[in-house]
Amino acid sequence: MTFKKNILCIGAGYVGGPTMVIIAYRCPQYKVTVVDTNPTRIAEWNSDDLPIYEPGLDKIVKATRGRNLFFSTEIERGIKEAEIIFVSVNTPTKTFGAGAGMAADLQYWEKTARQILKYSESSKIIVEKSTFPVRTAFAMERILSSTENDIHFDVLSNPEFLAEGTAIKDLEYPDRVLIGSRETPRGLKARDELVEIYSNWVPKDRIITSNIWSSELSKLVANAFLAQRISSINSFTAFCEKTEADITEVARAIGMDSRLGNKFLNSSLGWGGSCFKKDILNLVYLCRNYGLDKEADYWEGVVRINDYQKERFVLNILSAMFNTLAGKKICLLGFAFKANTGDTRESPAIFIAKKLIEEKAELVITDPEALRNARIDLDGIEGKISYIEDPYEASDGCDAIAVMTEWKIYKSLDFEKIYRSMVKPAFIFDGRNILDHKRLFEIGFNVFPIGKPPLTHF
Ligand code: NAD
Ligand code: UGA
Repeated sequence: MTFKKNILCIGAGYVGGPTMVIIAYRCPQYKVTVVDTNPTRIAEWNSDDLPIYEPGLDKIVKATRGRNLFFSTEIERGIKEAEIIFVSVNTPTKTFGAGAGMAADLQYWEKTARQILKYSESSKIIVEKSTFPVRTAFAMERILSSTENDIHFDVLSNPEFLAEGTAIKDLEYPDRVLIGSRETPRGLKARDELVEIYSNWVPKDRIITSNIWSSELSKLVANAFLAQRISSINSFTAFCEKTEADITEVARAIGMDSRLGNKFLNSSLGWGGSCFKKDILNLVYLCRNYGLDKEADYWEGVVRINDYQKERFVLNILSAMFNTLAGKKICLLGFAFKANTGDTRESPAIFIAKKLIEEKAELVITDPEALRNARIDLDGIEGKISYIEDPYEASDGCDAIAVMTEWKIYKSLDFEKIYRSMVKPAFIFDGRNILDHKRLFEIGFNVFPIGKPPLTHF
């Protein structure tokens, strides 16, 4: 079968995989190939056991794989065949050298750009899908135009705004698709080609265009605003706990103001995920580079208050349980950084588990999708940790339960049964405020929500 266009995506991760699955699904006229240097990941994409858990993903993979969607490790071939290349490699925080702990590590991205240059035999559109520092497109253009030949590369910025756990919905019905380009005739032509792809399923008024730097910056700003909102509501939780105000009531009251809106106001034990922290720190690093220290300090505060929120959660457990956790068994209900994903990158649960182990507590971790990653995250840590999928079995014989992830199934657990199987006095620390606190108290638990006065029997 001949296809209208050959699309390649370099990087088969949480973004590259699902975004290409949807493009292939919605555009059967295009051949979509996803390549990765990691052969295990590609083998998993080609199997029934996909490398990531995302509701609805497996069904669409089954409908498209082998039809017009292909997963492969043949990067050279993929580059040669493609007219449009999405770059969706990881851009983690740098762990070494200048900017360590703050700047984005661009080694994967640069390697990709050099591979594209090396293997290309025709002109191509290169789409930045990963989240990059502002002006990365400039560096990419520099690398891609570093040899003398007739091949030309047009670089576009098309940041991804999907959230894990709702990726398929976010991709099928995006709030907006943003495409940044050079405002030259070539840049605008390339931009129109990308608009054409999205127009297959996204309404025209939701596809917005801008200059390339605004597009790169908008992605960082969007994540900074989202994280700031959670940090802001979380920053009032300690206040509520001290004053008998209730953070859920406060969130409802402010969220009904149409200027503020009611989303992203769920207070928690802290936000996690692979991107908020790295993107804000990257933004902070860029600000400092431009001498914008006041701005850098402001945004760094969003991360700092989040770190404090996680620490505060552990200290609350410690003080509630009579200032010693040594030998006590604590069940972590959930380990993923949010519900409906198996992803644990930067999950608050990692920090909390490590701190509880430092206090010599024994941990039992349960999660419907994230136990494989939890084992990897806590590998090599000295302490007693077990991993049990069934929440009833996991909480059996425990002194306390700490809710880490807002999985829906946890709301309907039989807490009377759980209470009976636990050591008394039994504690629940609800790091997500998802449980019925009054009912738990009536059952006999000592209940410690986030941002609400505790309900205790002593
Ligand atoms: P990921 O680690 O899941 O996937 C990246 C993949 O790129 C890995 O499989 C890795 O093996 C591969 N890779 C690295 N270098 C390569 C190379 N030279 N050639 C081929 N493959 C290579 O990362 P992710 O979560 O998909 O994130 C990718 C980018 O998208 C990041 O910049 C991130 O900030 C951004 N982003 C992520 C999300 C999300 O929800 N995870 C949402 C929006 C944007
Ligand atoms: C986030 C953004 O929402 C996406 O738009 C963006 O594309 C993505 O980062 C990215 O660049 O990687 P994601 O991290 O997958 O998506 O998930 P979110 O729903 O944003 O949740 C992030 C964290 O905040 C989770 O730990 C979640 O539990 C927490 N959260 C979220 C709260 O504590 N309270 C809330 O009200 C909302």
